[in-house]
Amino acid sequence: MAEGAESFLPEARDVESLREAADGCRGCGLYRDATQTVFGAGKRDARLLVIGEQPGDSEDTRGEPFVGPAGGLLDRALIAAGVDRDDVWLTNAVKHFKFRRAAGGKRRLHQKPERSEVLACRPWLLAEIAAVDPELVVCLGATAAQDLFGPSFRVTRSRGEILVAEEPEGLRVLITVHPSSVLRTPGDYRDAAFDALVSDLSKAAEALGAR
Ligand code: URA
Ligand code: SF4
Repeated sequence: MAEGAESFLPEARDVESLREAADGCRGCGLYRDATQTVFGAGKRDARLLVIGEQPGDSEDTRGEPFVGPAGGLLDRALIAAGVDRDDVWLTNAVKHFKFRRAAGGKRRLHQKPERSEVLACRPWLLAEIAAVDPELVVCLGATAAQDLFGPSFRVTRSRGEILVAEEPEGLRVLITVHPSSVLRTPGDYRDAAFDALVSDLSKAAEALGAR
């Protein structure tokens, strides 16, 4: 069982101090095979904080969240939804890339993080949410949503809704799917899957605009 990130948190809780400390995190086993910690990035006092699952291959190499194919799709969806990219903080539930090697090859294939790894990494996410103090959070997919609402939470039942979390208490959270799920949708249905993601994200834009 992972000991968790708690003991690696710095005293200063601004995002730069957090990012620096997260570089040295050994709170679970995922740091061993990954290249580096991929901490959140964006506007440090963003009104909207977006949570994905974990860095992918490109993110692990570059050290930044959402810079690969899923990130490209997310960018397009945010623009289509009218969300100002300059007012977003992007992060992940888990800060290290979990992967396995394709048979015989060098290719690194994404592996879903275990609940124990998500829980181990949770202190970083909570500290990040506290530091950025957004008006609204968007959870992209089950890993992020279950991190905030528990393991039996189902994205398909609540997507497009804004829920209120118990921890962090009172946090407003919009639920939607992960952009990778749109990329995996078969050709004929992909446009509809993209439009559905945009429609969910538009509710975030509306919620922010209404304030
Ligand atoms: N998928 C995620 O969940 N996060 C990233 O940063 C990239 C891909
Ligand atoms: Fe620490 Fe999270 Fe990386 Fe595990 S995944 S080592 S808890 S930063």
